[in-house]
Amino acid sequence: MKTIDTLRSVLRFRPIEWDATARRLRGAASVEDLRRIAKRRLPRGVFDYIDGGAEDERSLAGNSSAFARRTFQPRVLRQVGVVDPSTTLLGQRLPFPLVLAPTGFTRIAHPDGELAVARAAGRVGLPYALSTLGTHSIEALAAVGAGPKWFQVYVWRDRGLVAELIARAKAADYAAIMVTVDTAVFGRRERDVRRGYELPPKIGLGTLVDGAVHPAWTWQFVRSDPIMFANVTGREVGDGSAAVSLAAYVNAQFDPDLSWDDVAWLREQWDGPIVLKGIQTVADAVLAAEHGIEAVALSNHGGRQLDDAPAPIDLVAPVAQAVGGRVEIICDGGVRRGSDIVKAVALGATACMAGRAYFYALGAAGEAGVDHVIELLDSGVRRTMALVGAGTVGELTPELVTPCD
Ligand SMILES: Cc1cc2nc3c(=O)[nH]c(=O)nc-3n(C[C@H](O)[C@H](O)[C@H](O)COP(=O)(O)O)c2cc1C
Repeated sequence: MKTIDTLRSVLRFRPIEWDATARRLRGAASVEDLRRIAKRRLPRGVFDYIDGGAEDERSLAGNSSAFARRTFQPRVLRQVGVVDPSTTLLGQRLPFPLVLAPTGFTRIAHPDGELAVARAAGRVGLPYALSTLGTHSIEALAAVGAGPKWFQVYVWRDRGLVAELIARAKAADYAAIMVTVDTAVFGRRERDVRRGYELPPKIGLGTLVDGAVHPAWTWQFVRSDPIMFANVTGREVGDGSAAVSLAAYVNAQFDPDLSWDDVAWLREQWDGPIVLKGIQTVADAVLAAEHGIEAVALSNHGGRQLDDAPAPIDLVAPVAQAVGGRVEIICDGGVRRGSDIVKAVALGATACMAGRAYFYALGAAGEAGVDHVIELLDSGVRRTMALVGAGTVGELTPELVTPCD
């Protein structure tokens, strides 16, 4: 009798979750869990395209470890019964300080690709930046979701094409353009080099075997429309309908002669806010301010371009000090937790930007995965703010983070 009573008091069965996606997400408590699920579900080449970085991947690893090196100096007894993580970026109110970063070829993880990300971001009012190399078009993206849309611009050698893309973003009511400036030439992503990885993935013997052991991905891939660079469909520059090596494509099409003189030209094309993405020094952040740029994204492209680049979180405080409020600061790279966002904002960023976090989630569970990762980051920000004693983002100050040299 006693045994039965004891058992009754401890036995708890979780209700059975019949929906496979919800079941998968129930066990995903962190971005790292979503990464593991994506790794299991995606073919190796696809996973490595998302997960990998340049050369020895030291920038990639450094982005995250620089967050880990910084600890908090939490304050207590600060009345944090109500925590409000909302903020304003480029004049737009955000529910918490996060932007979803532009990623090329997003449909590789799930057929809905950028549309799924935009819908999930729109549901909570977070901005999402569509990549020039997106696999859904500027117009298709504008048609979904309520959140602000930004357009990420790679400056092609063909400036007429750039002007046209920016005009299309303007016509589709995008709120900002984000010009990526860290891609003078393509970074050497050696996981892709080793595999001879092309986009879309070519169906060779290896892919067939890989596809057979990842049936869910393969089934989705073969049933959906061909994956292409949707913003330049049918254009002379090539739209990815024939397999391309991304490195060869970028090196042939993007302009390595881009300079500060081009900022004036970009201004003529676009009268809204301009974000420069890929600023990696205080000196360039100051130049951006002097050129009247509205925001800089401190970024090394998620460790995919220059190896041994500075970690963005290490630049936040010195850049904030040097630009003195003239430009807004977005910290981009290595964001995996709400606490990372809190550290960046405390040190002087207006917001963070995250790429792989939602890309893994998309590969793990499609649109529901993106909702899930946004929820994880949002609740992580709220929890961390309460634990460091900050009720609002205005109370997130540098003293809350241990100085780091
Ligand atoms: C698979 C993948 C594709 C990307 N494609 C682009 C792109 O087309 N344009 C761009 O400006 N940045 C691109 N990025 C960089 C992201 O915008 C962002 O800077 C980076 O992901 C931030 O690092 P995180 O992944 O650690 O969050 C890409 C990143 C990944 C992981």
